[in-house]
Amino acid sequence: MKYNFDEIANRKNTNSVKYDEFDSELPMWVADMDFRVAPAIESAIKKQLEILAIGYSLIPDEFFNSFANFYKKHYGTTFSKNEMVYVSGVVASIDATLKRIGNKGDNVVVLAPIYHTFYHCIENNNKKVLPSNFLVNDGKYQIDFLDLEKKLSSKESSILLLCNPHNPIGKIFSKEELLKISKLADKYGVFVISDEIHGLLASPNTKYIPYSNVSVNDNYMVCLSNSKAFNIAGLQSAIAVIPNEEKRKLLQDAFYEDDIGEPNFFAVSANIAALNESEKWLAELNEYIYENKKVFFEKVNEIPRLKVYWGDATYMMWVEYQNDINSREFVKKLNEEEGLLVSPGIQFGESGEHHFRINLATSRKNVLKAIQKLKHFMEGK
Ligand SMILES: Cc1ncc(COP(=O)(O)O)c(C=O)c1O
Repeated sequence: MKYNFDEIANRKNTNSVKYDEFDSELPMWVADMDFRVAPAIESAIKKQLEILAIGYSLIPDEFFNSFANFYKKHYGTTFSKNEMVYVSGVVASIDATLKRIGNKGDNVVVLAPIYHTFYHCIENNNKKVLPSNFLVNDGKYQIDFLDLEKKLSSKESSILLLCNPHNPIGKIFSKEELLKISKLADKYGVFVISDEIHGLLASPNTKYIPYSNVSVNDNYMVCLSNSKAFNIAGLQSAIAVIPNEEKRKLLQDAFYEDDIGEPNFFAVSANIAALNESEKWLAELNEYIYENKKVFFEKVNEIPRLKVYWGDATYMMWVEYQNDINSREFVKKLNEEEGLLVSPGIQFGESGEHHFRINLATSRKNVLKAIQKLKHFMEGK
């Protein structure tokens, strides 16, 4: 390995949400990584800083081309520069879209358990969350297509908010699954938002499939971002791919109206450096995370009353526990007694109760420490 992921950034007392919002010896909750950014990103940011006048930025063609080329090369996508719109965050783009598409009181269908912020985002925009819970068969999460169709067929359902690949369970949807989803959305005239922020994080030799590759129509928005894979969430930058011209115009105007259409001073060069110059770093990162996940999966599955679900995407792992206490209580006690902070499953919806999500984007040493803490905690329960 050329890059040393065993050495992590020292983030304590840096106004970091992950490290400084709550008191914890080992915070493994919020979705950002402890690894330092790729050298090309570091250089790009340093170069930008040399200017010292931190003013407003334009978005050059090179920025959009870096996305188009990277996704074409790695995922065979064919979207063009014209279909992409800059936006200062994936959640911001979803929020603006939920405001503009469909009517007040409509249902937004999600596959649950799902990324908790979606719930607030939907409800804050006067829409209703309509969850379709995954089925768990043979230790694997599967889409309940009968239920999904029932939910999408409701007259009040106007949007399907997909998390592709899926946070918190780390599932990579197959081509068949995505195609089936797309056909159902098409049949019932539902607009699909596919949040692909975790897409570039996948086990070696596996790949997620962009929704745009399989969609049977152009009634969708795909959200792409380098925030998770390149650890640049603090730069607040993302891309919305909106193939339908009318919808693109509507949403592009919406992003400007909501003041989320302009880039951070460092965002343009950092994103270009990520996509054009950091492929090797990303491949090694994915290998390191895979090893972290593998050791966690093997060791934690040996701990009585804990069950880890394998997912090939993201650095998150989804764990079920057997104990009477609810997941908020479980997480609180785990942090108070062992100093390990994870996310309670209930955050991700009712079907997430009695689970927790853990962030493994940290050094192997921290992962091993977390395993010991979980073991000790469960022994006392
Ligand atoms: C699925 C998903 N979407 C969006 C976000 C946040 O994206 P942004 O910071 O670009 O709003 C996260 C962060 O955890 C996430 O997991």
